[in-house]
This record gives sequence, C-alpha cells and structure tokens, in this order.
Amino acid sequence: MIVRTTEELAGLKRVGRLVARTLDVMERMVAPGVTTADLDRAAEACAMAERARSAPRLTYNFPGFTCISVNEQVVHGVPGPRVIQPGDIVKVDVTLELDGFLGDSARSVLVPPVAETATRLHAAAVAAFEAGFAAAQVGATIRDVGAAVGAVAAANGLQVLRQLSGHGIGRKLHEPPDVPNWDDPDATTVLRDGMVFALEPMFALSDSTVTDEKDGWTVRTRRRSLAIHHEHTIMVRAGQLPLVLTAL
Ligand code: MF3
Ligand code: CO
Ligand code: CO
Repeated sequence: MIVRTTEELAGLKRVGRLVARTLDVMERMVAPGVTTADLDRAAEACAMAERARSAPRLTYNFPGFTCISVNEQVVHGVPGPRVIQPGDIVKVDVTLELDGFLGDSARSVLVPPVAETATRLHAAAVAAFEAGFAAAQVGATIRDVGAAVGAVAAANGLQVLRQLSGHGIGRKLHEPPDVPNWDDPDATTVLRDGMVFALEPMFALSDSTVTDEKDGWTVRTRRRSLAIHHEHTIMVRAGQLPLVLTAL
C-alpha cells in the first residue's frame, strides 16, 4: 500500500511493533528441547493479548499461527512437534493483522554451538537487508533494491533463492509489487513516498532452488543446504532512509 494519512501510518506502526514484540518472545524461547509448536503457542498468546490475528491463517488458512522453518527449510514451515537441537538455525516469521493493517517480519535465530558457516550466512542476510534498505529511495526502482541485496549475496559466495521474493503489504499480506532479491530487469516499479513493502533476503549456502515438503507448506532448499531469512516491513520516505515499521 501507499501510506497517505497519519491514521494509516499509526495503524501500520501499531501492528509492526506487535510483530516485533512477538518475535522477541519467540527468539528468547529458542533453545534445545523446545518444540516449534511451543514457540508458536507463545507467539499466539502474545498477539492475541492485543487482539491481533495471524495473517497466514486468515489469508491462506495456514495451519500455524506463525511460520517456523529450521536449517534447510527456508520459509512457510509449519509449527509442530519438532524439537530444536544444538546448532540449529531457526527462522521465525510473524505476520499479524490488527485493525485492518498488516506487518510482516522474520529473523533467523542461531542455536549454540553455532557453525562458522551459519554465522557468515546470517551476517550476509542482515547486511543484504541493510543494502536493500539503503537503496529503497524515492525514484529508485524495485530492481535497484534487489540488485543491492543480490550483490551482497554474490560478494559472500551465497545463492539467492530466486523463486522467493518480498512483496508489497499493508492492507493485505501479499500486495504488489513483488520484491526480488536480485537484479531482476522486470522489477520496474518506481518507489514512491509512503510505499510499504516487505524486504526479505532469502539465501542458501549452495542451493539456488527450492522445493515444497510433503506437508504442502514448508519450502526447503532442493539439496538441503542451509538457508537464511531476514525480513522487515518498511516504508519508503522522500529525502531520508525508509522507516522500519516492524521495529520496537
Ligand atoms: N510471512 C510470509 C512472508 O514473508 C507469509 C507466509 S503466508 C503462508 O511472505 F501462508 F504461506 F505461510
Ligand atoms: Co514473513
Ligand atoms: Co513477507
């Protein structure tokens, strides 16, 4: 969406802050022995206390409240009995709806002992997000943003998972435009003041393609290499850096 009123901005900030708080609750709980269903229940309790709803459930009838994906799983993992192990990379992705506004953010949580490759992968995803964020200026294109993200992946010898993209958001979970994480010549949308989208680098150590798991939801790397995901909902602003809506 494009924000035009202070009420719209206030609504997006409110849901965005709640997304951030919910992710904090989940991140603090991540430890060996905890199940992904435990994390999901805690997230649901946090969000429900504010009367927020799960956007994946609302929009797609997703079977969890949040999406939780581990190791080679990239996105859309279904919370369940899986027990978190030492060394896991746990990707928690929260999308909430509150009073008609939506916010979407994801983090990768590394469970000690953390392999050096995992640390590198994580740092690259955060750096790529920052690069795309800085490129998201009024008058630039979505292609410019993707090129900045993709350049960081390339500089670190990582693969961009091109089948997956960021997206417009605001009144619905997935709005136009698509926000690819690479220099896509088709991403011609010009950024405007107030434009809101989810910027979400998704990289893998060696795979460049993904496939669906048997549950029909979980997306994993085809040859099971480690994957990373880092996401915020941001708003483009004239003459300054974008605003991170999914921050505290
Ligand atoms: N949070 C996801 C995103 O970043 C949306 C998941 S919707 C689902 O776009 F139903 F597919 F899980
Ligand atoms: Co998300
Ligand atoms: Co998203």
